[in-house]
This record gives sequence, structure tokens and C-alpha cells, in this order.
Amino acid sequence: MQTITVNLTSASDERSYPIYIGNGILNQPGLVLRHLPRKRVAIVSNTTVAPLYLESFRGMLESHGVTSVPIILPDGEKYKNWETLNLIFDALLAHRCERHTLVVALGGGVVGDLAGFAAATYLRGVPFIQVPTTLLAQVDSSVGGKTGINHPLGKNMIGAFYQPRVVLIDTSTLDTLPDKELRAGIAEIIKYGLIRDSAFLEWLESNMPKLLARDREILIEAVRRSCLHKAEIVEADEHESGVRALLNLGHTFGHAIENAMGYGRWLHGEAVAAGTILAAELSRRLHMIGEADVERIRKIYLRAGLPVVAPNLGPEKYLHLMGLDKKVEAGKMRFVLLKRIGEAVVRSDVPSEVLRNMLSECTADA
Ligand code: NAD
Ligand code: GLY
Repeated sequence: MQTITVNLTSASDERSYPIYIGNGILNQPGLVLRHLPRKRVAIVSNTTVAPLYLESFRGMLESHGVTSVPIILPDGEKYKNWETLNLIFDALLAHRCERHTLVVALGGGVVGDLAGFAAATYLRGVPFIQVPTTLLAQVDSSVGGKTGINHPLGKNMIGAFYQPRVVLIDTSTLDTLPDKELRAGIAEIIKYGLIRDSAFLEWLESNMPKLLARDREILIEAVRRSCLHKAEIVEADEHESGVRALLNLGHTFGHAIENAMGYGRWLHGEAVAAGTILAAELSRRLHMIGEADVERIRKIYLRAGLPVVAPNLGPEKYLHLMGLDKKVEAGKMRFVLLKRIGEAVVRSDVPSEVLRNMLSECTADA
């Protein structure tokens, strides 16, 4: 097992936490027990993940005297909303869960974002832990404390920064993950290479067939290196006033795609992949990177089996949806662009004509 620490120590409080990564570690009671304030937890999962992992996890806790309230949500991005959040509150209240009841998020990014937001707001905050079961959640969403829900007008627009007590990454849960979901997770892994680690991108280029074949060592290494990047960024800028925004490479376009197509039609990772090609193309048109760089980025996404052509929503629709992005400041859109492979920057001076032309020329009818 490997341990990475997200260091959030300050003079006034201590919110640092470990990320444990290993195969089969969900059955190691000590990793959870040492973080429990009381021997009672509420486990939030969904109708797909619960039949796979809930009973054995509950059983493991029960054998150590921990009682649990299971809260099973409907599965899907389209349920990442107020109604589903309320289902969690209903269950927590109906079971009289108190301040020391710890919330466990057992599932992918949707369960993690919902359960984390519920924990951030229930009784003004109860402790929670992340047990991510998708590759995307293991390399990105479970670390860093972003929690929240979608709004019909914009993705992830309602939420809170709220850090977990521990992130428990059991890579054996990926054995049951559909290929399409595995590929969506790879999109976020590639992102770390593009924004801050060209050597990691090269490693991914060499190891893509093994990653897709779920080679255990390669998977663990990809998760470990991704979590190291995520932890470093979150430590430097927990509330996204600076460098954390770089994690949104491709996301401004991607969130617009997810919203316009209907939440759940394009997987988050798929929308990020196609969105990153648009960000790369915009970077090229602003003379920041060259055509060969764009080709290289397109190639790695293609090799990962991810979409590289964004849908043609029309420039106006993109601009409208991107105007609701969380990075908008003083009414100005801000874009994460590539200075080179391995280095990203935020720019708010993209000429509207360059953006519109790029959106017309680089998208295609679905
Ligand atoms: P998801 O949670 O919808 O999971 C994908 C699918 O896989 C679901 O059907 C789920 O039930 C199923 N599943 C989960 N684990 C499984 C397993 N082990 N075996 C079989 N099936 C399994 O999607 P996701 O890709 O994990 O997360 C996407 C969400 O994460 C989006 O809402 C996105 O906005 C959010 N996100 C949040 C952050 C953050 O920092 N909080 C970062 C990136 C993405
Ligand atoms: N996934 C983006 C972030 O955590 O900041």
C-alpha cells in the first residue's frame, strides 16, 4: 500500500489527510477505523456500486462494532441535483444521524460530489471519507474537497469546498468498471501530464496499452502519480484562487458539452477529452503551441479511445454556456491554455474572433 498526504496544516487548524492506495485495501479495517469519531457511519452509494461493494464493506465495519446506515441513490450524472441531495438529508434525519456520524462516499465522482456536499452542509458539517470506485474518482474527484451538484443552467454550479478525513483507493474495485468508464478516467490522468508533467505524458504514451488492459502495476502507478499532482495543487491553492484553475484544462468547453447534450449523454471524461482538443487548438491559434503538439495530444486521446471532436453546438451556444463558467471574472471568460506540453496558463485575453472561428472550424455535427 502507498500513502500520500494532502498537507493542509495551518496555524489555526489541522485538516491534512492521507490518501491510501492499494489493491484490496477496502478489507483493511484499520484504515477506516482510525478515522471514525464514533462507531456509526452513513454509507452513501448508488444502485450500481452498492450491490458490488456495500455489503462486504458494511460487514467489515460491523465485525468491528461499527453500525452503518446505507443510503442508496439512483445512478447517473442526471441525478447529481437537489432532489438526490435531499434523499441523503432525508435518510440522515430519518436515522437520527448526529454530528459525529461520519459519511462515507462509496462510488464514483457523482456519489462523491453529492455525499461530500451533504456532509459539508448536514448539521453545518459532519466528517466524511471518500472511497472512490471509478478511475476518474480515484485520480481526481475524491481528492481536494470539491463537492457539489449540477444546476440545469450550469454544471457543478452549487457546492462547497469540504475536505474528506481520508481517501481510500482500492484499485481492485476497477475490475468491475466498464471500459468506457475506465477511458473516461484516463482523460483526467492525461490532463496532469499536459498541464505540469511532460515526463508523465511520455510515460502514459508508452504505457497506454497496459493501462487500457488494466495492468495492475501500471494502474497503481498512474493513480499514485495523479494523486501526487492533485495533492500538490490542492496544498498550494485549496480554494482555487490561482494554480488550481489549471486542473480545468478542457473543462470550460467540456462542461458546456455536458450541459448542452444533457447531463449523462457525454461522460465527464469524454467531454474533457474533446474539450481539451479545443483548448489545444485555441492555444495553437494564439501561437502558444504548434500543430505537432496538437496532433500529439489528439493522438494520445485517440489511443485512449476517447472522443477528439467536440459536437457542433454553434459558437453562440458555446459562448452562452461558457459565460456561466466558474472561472468567469468581472464578466470576462478565462481559459486554461497550453504554453507547451507540460505547462498550462490561464488567459482572459482571448480575442472573441479567434474563439468563434475556432469553435466553428473545430467542432462537427454529432
Ligand atoms: P460516475 O460517478 O457517474 O461513475 C460512472 C459509472 O460507473 C456510474 O454508472 C457508476 O455507478 C459506475 N461505477 C462506479 N464504480 C464502479 C465500479 N467499481 N464498478 C462498476 N461500475 C462502477 O462518474 P465518474 O466518472 O466517476 O465521475 C464524474 C463526476 O465527477 C462528474 O459529475 C464530475 O463533475 C465529477 N468530478 C468532480 C471533481 C471534483 O473535484 N469534485 C473532479 C472531476 C470530476
Ligand atoms: N477537478 C478540478 C479540481 O479539483 O480542482
